[in-house]
Amino acid sequence: VEWTAAERSAVAGLWGKISVDEIGPQALARLLIVSPWTQRHFSSFGNLSSPAAIMGNPKVAAHGKTVMGALDKAVKNMDNIKGAYRDLSVMHSEKLHVDPDNFRLLADCITVCVAMKFGPSGFSADAQEAWQKFLTAVVSALGRQYH
Ligand code: HEM
Repeated sequence: VEWTAAERSAVAGLWGKISVDEIGPQALARLLIVSPWTQRHFSSFGNLSSPAAIMGNPKVAAHGKTVMGALDKAVKNMDNIKGAYRDLSVMHSEKLHVDPDNFRLLADCITVCVAMKFGPSGFSADAQEAWQKFLTAVVSALGRQYH
């Protein structure tokens, strides 16, 4: 993936404003609510029986922070996102058996949560373009080790 200077600074700027501890739990909860088939991977997390249960579930919140925090690696390795996520891709494929299409679904939930947080001024069209290109690279890298 080739990045312009403007895209690099848009991604870095947005990432600098994002609270992993706020957006991570929101995004994972949103995924489990709007794409309920993803719940099958989280049967050990306890009560996922309603949107309120999911949003109040501390294991969902903790894992949301883990997942969102993992984006830092991509922000810091924008020229080698594939390499940065090689092991994570192998793990999601071979150990967790997560369908790679779900990466895109989570990425979209993250984008919605970021857009809601920052609104049209903080999440401008240019920022959105760069951010979605960035998450597309993340999704592609995570799907890399599937065969
Ligand atoms: C674990 C990142 C998407 C299911 C993890 C871990 C990270 C991570 C960093 C912890 C790895 C470790 O313990 O060494 C990501 C990123 C994603 C993503 C960056 C996309 C942006 C998904 C999706 C699903 C999923 C879409 C399922 C629908 C899981 C599961 C675990 C896990 C089940 C193990 C949880 C546990 O029992 O602790 N992921 N993940 N991940 N991920 Fe993902």
